[in-house]
Amino acid sequence: GLPARVRIHEVGARDGLQNEKETVPTPVKAEFIRRLAVAGLTTIEATSFVHPKWVPQLADAEELFPLLGDIADVGDVSLPVLVPNERGLDRALALGARSIAVFGSATETFAARNLNRTVDESLAMFAPVVARAKAESVHVRGYLSMCFGDPWEGTVPVAQVVRVAKALMDLGCDELSLGDTIGVATPGHVTALLTALNDSAVPTESIGVHFHDTYGQALSNTLAALQHGVSTVDASAGGLGGCPYAKSATGNLATEDLVWMLDGLGIETGVDLDALTATSTWLAGHLGRPSPSRTVRALTPS
Ligand code: HMG
Ligand code: MG
Repeated sequence: GLPARVRIHEVGARDGLQNEKETVPTPVKAEFIRRLAVAGLTTIEATSFVHPKWVPQLADAEELFPLLGDIADVGDVSLPVLVPNERGLDRALALGARSIAVFGSATETFAARNLNRTVDESLAMFAPVVARAKAESVHVRGYLSMCFGDPWEGTVPVAQVVRVAKALMDLGCDELSLGDTIGVATPGHVTALLTALNDSAVPTESIGVHFHDTYGQALSNTLAALQHGVSTVDASAGGLGGCPYAKSATGNLATEDLVWMLDGLGIETGVDLDALTATSTWLAGHLGRPSPSRTVRALTPS
């Protein structure tokens, strides 16, 4: 059966804005995140502590993160940040981050392009990050990119994904997010990967799914994952984002599209769809282009 409740892991402020050509001013980012919290999102990825030359759009992490202090007043909101290495962890911990994410790749080409490392070298880079975070009771998510297809390598074999997924869990990650970074997955492939992960003793409760809507399959893939027992779903307000180091990656699954489907299924999310839609429409004004989300368009009077 389907879960009664889904936890949405909102990635618009990080995965979305990292891919915008224009760098959004820091106060606008802070207001965006605050409005997402007011709309009822409880896990809001805030930024990345990566090398500023690699992702210039998020180079203001030191300025942004302290502006988010008052979001605690809105409710019990966690603000995960991406951290690739110990230098990134030092920066995040210095600002009081309580939830981090490392981000690995199922393929060698993307590991090289995104992290300047082989897959195994990146796991070695994450090992002390996860160990130190766990020692400080900081929550750790492990992202795994290119779980279905890779723009350079084509279809990614399930066994190859399972190996890296297990390695991330063995490092001590609390949760694993399966990324369809370029949006090529279809529901049967999703079910095959989730089944293989179960067979390899990766518990479904620790798995989240991260779909991109390149081929219009993100919601179908999400439903397949929910039917398999997954109850953590990544989405991006207004469908913002792609990935600067993955050509052909278009927008993430729009949070509004996800909430529309979950509301219809009677699955609780705690998200106020009207407040969320208004937030994405407001941000679209700052970005100078309309949201690609079908639900945002349907709910916004023209
Ligand atoms: P590198 O060039 O190999 O770095 O990059 P290095 O370890 O050789 O260090 C070189 C210099 O960078 C040193 O400075 C370090 O201190 C500095 P120097 O001593 O020469 O003066 N440095 C840093 N500075 C600030 N913060 C840091 C940091 N680390 C090193 N954290 C590195 C390796 C990992 C740093 C680089 O490749 C990087 O930053 N990559 C991040 C790329 C990225 O953020 N990509 C997007 C996120 S992944 C994604 O979008 C997929 C996902 O959304 C899921 C999906 O959609 O599928 C998660
Ligand atoms: Mg993404």
